[in-house]
Amino acid sequence: MKLHHIIKAQQFNRSKLANLFTMAHEMKEVVQKGGSDILSQKVMATVFYEPSTRTRLSFESAMQKLGGEVISTENAREFSSAAKGETLEDTIRVIESYSDVIILRHYESGAAEKAAKVARVPIINAGDGSGQHPTQALLDLYTIKEELGKIDGISIAMVGDLANGRTVRSLSYLLAKYKNIKIYFVAPKVTRIKSDIKDYLKRHHTFFTEESNLKKIAPIVDIIYQTRIQKERFGKRVKDYKEACGKYIIDKSILKLMKKDAIIMHPLPRVDDIKKEVDSDPRAAYFRQAQNGLYIRMALLKLILIG
Ligand code: NCD
Repeated sequence: MKLHHIIKAQQFNRSKLANLFTMAHEMKEVVQKGGSDILSQKVMATVFYEPSTRTRLSFESAMQKLGGEVISTENAREFSSAAKGETLEDTIRVIESYSDVIILRHYESGAAEKAAKVARVPIINAGDGSGQHPTQALLDLYTIKEELGKIDGISIAMVGDLANGRTVRSLSYLLAKYKNIKIYFVAPKVTRIKSDIKDYLKRHHTFFTEESNLKKIAPIVDIIYQTRIQKERFGKRVKDYKEACGKYIIDKSILKLMKKDAIIMHPLPRVDDIKKEVDSDPRAAYFRQAQNGLYIRMALLKLILIG
């Protein structure tokens, strides 16, 4: 299974996902054995126009654990030639002559698609504005499978900034590929899930409902997927931002309501949306989730650069 561009979650099907997860599992063993050199001579460029910790560093670590090299422009908005007025297309045309794969994070929805149109080397969308974040959704789904042992039949509450959160959007597309999924969208009024996602879920016969009471939903779901209110997407809408903040916080009182074998996920960074007191509960899966990002990204790089 060779992959090329990774732009949106919809491009994966169940068999590709199963294949990827098997390989991610193998990558965990590769890491435990000290890494490998299958990607030696290959160069990965990370081009990030928005802040990142996990996504950029896990991609860079993934490349290095497989013996490849990394070139990087963090804060590309200020430090790359974009600051001089260069178009994204021109920047990509230049970087592709230095690298075998480009990991791109951009503040505009649709930027990765735009880059892929001109690129000869594979482009991986590492987040495009409030569009999508497909590799995060892949590691999220992998985490669900690892933690709960299955994906079909799970019920999940997606909580927080569902209007701007690209991880929620990409994960919804992926979940629609599985059977008997139940999605509960729990969000403040100003950050409710957008209609394109709801339409997609309807078309794919995936059950979803919008709820406002997290306490009512917490006891019945297998996963609470919490998200940060995406301050940077509100611009001048300060009132809306303030209204969205602090509405849904995961703390001990929510833990008490949850099933014994349920889990809490979060793409991170958290702000005040999950209290620290939750971290020591075995159901807090978010740091394990972040670790899975390394294995999934190693698997993706192998599938893109070797097959
Ligand atoms: C997310 C993102 O950048 O979309 N972070 C991540 O990649 N793990 C979520 C967020 O920023 O809130």
